[in-house]
Amino acid sequence: MGFRKDFLWGAASASQQVEGAYLEDGKTLSIWDALSDGHIAYGDNANIACDHYHRYKEDVAIMKEIGIKSYRFSISWARVIPNADGKVNEKGLQFYKDLVDELLNAGITPLCTLYHWDLPMWLYELGGWENEDNVKYFVEYAKECVKALSDKIEYWITFNEPGVFVEGGYNCGVHAPFLQKSEDELNAITRNVMIAHGKAVVAMREVASRPIKIGSVPAFGVIMPENETKEAIELAKERTFNDTAPFYTAPWWADPVILGRRQRGTNYLSDEDLKIIAQPVDFFAFNCYNANGYEAPRYQSNPRAYAGYPRTAMDWPITPDCLYWAAKFLYERYGLPIIVTENGMANIDFKMLDGKVHDPQRIDYIHRHLLGLRRAADEGVDVIGYQYWSIMDNFEWAFGYSRRFGLVYVDYTTQQRTIKDSAYFYRQVIESNGENL
Ligand code: GCO
Repeated sequence: MGFRKDFLWGAASASQQVEGAYLEDGKTLSIWDALSDGHIAYGDNANIACDHYHRYKEDVAIMKEIGIKSYRFSISWARVIPNADGKVNEKGLQFYKDLVDELLNAGITPLCTLYHWDLPMWLYELGGWENEDNVKYFVEYAKECVKALSDKIEYWITFNEPGVFVEGGYNCGVHAPFLQKSEDELNAITRNVMIAHGKAVVAMREVASRPIKIGSVPAFGVIMPENETKEAIELAKERTFNDTAPFYTAPWWADPVILGRRQRGTNYLSDEDLKIIAQPVDFFAFNCYNANGYEAPRYQSNPRAYAGYPRTAMDWPITPDCLYWAAKFLYERYGLPIIVTENGMANIDFKMLDGKVHDPQRIDYIHRHLLGLRRAADEGVDVIGYQYWSIMDNFEWAFGYSRRFGLVYVDYTTQQRTIKDSAYFYRQVIESNGENL
């Protein structure tokens, strides 16, 4: 069977991580621009990042050379609605129109994320996600983007990894806005984000100029079975979906959003809330870099998990079957077509004496993970796409530029791009629709 003929082979990025041009053409500060001082490795910031805002044509030409068929990017809210008056900044929107035209001319299908963590600072000053009004503002922003771009973009994602920005931003404080909130406050924030998703889905369909496909993206660490006996598989599934640790589990987000029910042990959503939150969506997108640890009780954060496994430059264990099990378990539980919207590794990449970037570890990482994903497709899971994270090295949040996930190497002093070996490998995979794996 293998991958579908129209499989969405692609790579991903996010506005804050690649665009730069942080105050250009009417854009105002995001919380990452404004609040990062003292929180980022080596004092880095995203003011210039990969300068993708000015170099998007070159970047799309590189994508075409790599042969990707789709590209997942996000829109910067502060570029589109820069101020509290709520007025649309046409120049900001124009950037995305131009980018999408460039992609379409190169035969690349755009996948668009509305919120990849870069809340505008003006909204933060009004209370941000702690303020219920943020829902209204998000819905307005989503409508403007869809009105302007739905003729050209079919695939839309409301939120990227809500668990990560709620946990990272408001609980452990390693992501903007770098706060530590109480449990009640975290629940209120979570509820606001979920309601914003539900209301936006309805509003986006209303204003779209043609039928669009909508989803959202939880971060998801699957618990893999110890072996492939029926009992071990059932236990892994049970642990994957019944882990009550918040934020990084699929059910924390997807049970309310897709099944209309509370995650076990939570009570901050009313029945009325659930009706608003659980809107029909078209696909289940998820990001997965590795499996969660296996031992009870806090599987995901267990330091003993995967002791002795090979690790990436993020110190994340390499567990190649994670995509197979995640796709299987998620398809069984939620019944929606699956898109992997992020999977990839940070590696110690540099330009070598021969002028090339050799990254055999990444080639092997992609190869093994795709074997798992293909196995899921062979067994009947409706897998519709895979987006490698990331198209290019970029601003890795609190790690600044010190971690490189890209298929394309970026020299940040010159902004010169170099296509890595792994991108050429990926091109062959795409050309053969995964048959060469
Ligand atoms: C994520 C983030 C990406 C990260 C990547 C590597 O969705 O977690 O979307 O922005 O850069 O995951 O950590």
